[in-house]
Amino acid sequence: MLKPEELKVGRRNFMKAAAVLPAAGAYVATAKIAEPVKCAWIGTGGEGRVLLENCPYNGFIEVVAVADIRPDFRELGAHIVRQKCCPDVRAYSNYKDMLSDGGFEAVVIATPLLTHGPITMDCLSAGYHVLCEKTMAYSIDDCEGMINAAKKNNLVLAIGHQRHANPLYITTKEMVDTGMLGEVHHIRSLWHRNHSWRRSPAGEWNNEVLKEKFGEYPIEGVAKILGITGENAKNPNIVMREGGKEDAPFYTEQKQFELYFQYLAEKEPEFEAKIHDTSEYGYESPDMLGNWRLYKKMSHGLMSELGSHQIDVCNWMWGAEPDYVSCAGGIWAYDDGREVADHVFSIFQYPNEKVMTFTSITTNKFDHYYDQVMGTKGTAFLTGESEAYYYSESGGKLGEVKMEESGSGKPAGSASGSRAKDMAGAGAAEGDGASLSNPFDPYRYELEKFASAIRKGDPSLVGCDGEAGYKAAIAVLRSVQAQEENKVKSCRIADARTA
Ligand SMILES: NC(=O)c1ccc[n+]([C@@H]2O[C@H](COP(=O)([O-])OP(=O)(O)OC[C@H]3O[C@@H](n4cnc5c(N)ncnc54)[C@H](O)[C@@H]3O)[C@@H](O)[C@H]2O)c1
Repeated sequence: MLKPEELKVGRRNFMKAAAVLPAAGAYVATAKIAEPVKCAWIGTGGEGRVLLENCPYNGFIEVVAVADIRPDFRELGAHIVRQKCCPDVRAYSNYKDMLSDGGFEAVVIATPLLTHGPITMDCLSAGYHVLCEKTMAYSIDDCEGMINAAKKNNLVLAIGHQRHANPLYITTKEMVDTGMLGEVHHIRSLWHRNHSWRRSPAGEWNNEVLKEKFGEYPIEGVAKILGITGENAKNPNIVMREGGKEDAPFYTEQKQFELYFQYLAEKEPEFEAKIHDTSEYGYESPDMLGNWRLYKKMSHGLMSELGSHQIDVCNWMWGAEPDYVSCAGGIWAYDDGREVADHVFSIFQYPNEKVMTFTSITTNKFDHYYDQVMGTKGTAFLTGESEAYYYSESGGKLGEVKMEESGSGKPAGSASGSRAKDMAGAGAAEGDGASLSNPFDPYRYELEKFASAIRKGDPSLVGCDGEAGYKAAIAVLRSVQAQEENKVKSCRIADARTA
């Protein structure tokens, strides 16, 4: 546990280090492009809307259409676009209709993992560039199908590992490449939380945008289904308790989604089939759509939803992929019908005596989430995707860094110059330290890079490309298999493909 003074020193050290690295400013906003790229969104749930909120509408991207099978999330996504960019945005319940209607060049996909492969391949085959959220795909076949479809159709394929567009991570990569950290044999990454990771519809009960759309707050509609009237009907604290009784237990999240989706299906009858028609959409229950992360059929759980980001960082830092993985874990804490592990402890062995450990737990949040890149000369410590620290080994672990140590020969005095300010974003004051002024900026940079790659006809300009996404996805899959079978698994592509 670092003390505030030690954190301050670490932040200052990181800024000093950044200031003497070679590719000054290369990672800040991409140069403007001639004309914004017209885009459509598939999936306007939590992440789809984060991307819409942080989209570079100022010259890079124009959003003309959105598609989502959920009527509520579709409306919430369309609402953001109407406010920020395009009052006439088109909204679809079936993305295939949107692809046929066209009027855009590229698609951003933020749907559950199982659907990434099929939806991306449909988009690429129809001639649209794609940015698909991480993890790249559920299976190796899907990843390869996506890469091949992009190549065949000469289109850009980007994967949403946004750390590739995060100045703090780009600086850390430079620290590794220039030898500033020395020999790096170990990267320690983790993502720890103390909650069930279950979602409920709570955020939607009293949503104003949905009230405008449906003519009442969703909780009032659900209350009607349950026969609850009067003032109580507006209060989720009562409606969501068994029998509508104030002191009764809350309905399970499964039951809450069942009731909420019943209400949405009354508003939009075709939604009914989407939560039960396994032939087209795959969802076997309302909870499988609302809490898809917890179902094996839809997701690889903590490894794909959290670990893939950090494995991808490690692959990038070392320019290599793991040879082997072992993993302990299981469903240890939540006996609630979930099918994926709630604790995972993975050890990835990389070539040339390097090891990455990734742990993700749901019963303790003390460590939050971070990546520590540990070299013989120093440690880069990145936490929450928005704070970075650097500690030298030679100056005493927590000591102030003297920039001569980097071997750059440049004076430390330049360290707090414009480079440091660029890195922290335009809004940051000099001396703020190595933190992003807006932690969501990497999403904007990621989308800028995607748009630039399309306009300039150069797929290599994206943050994370299909090949990098594929390598992270293989490691995810093999780690899950290692945990389930309690065996060390090879992560080499040839072995993974024949497994
Ligand atoms: N890059 C990141 O840091 C980050 C963070 C969170 C989530 N994600 C990724 O974003 C994706 C979505 O996650 P989320 O948290 O937004 O989930 P979510 O459940 O909030 O949203 C998913 C949306 O996809 C829609 N959908 C499902 N199947 C569909 C289909 N066949 N056609 C059209 N729409 C469909 C759902 O109705 C829902 O609105 C996942 O791949 C997840 O891993 C990335």
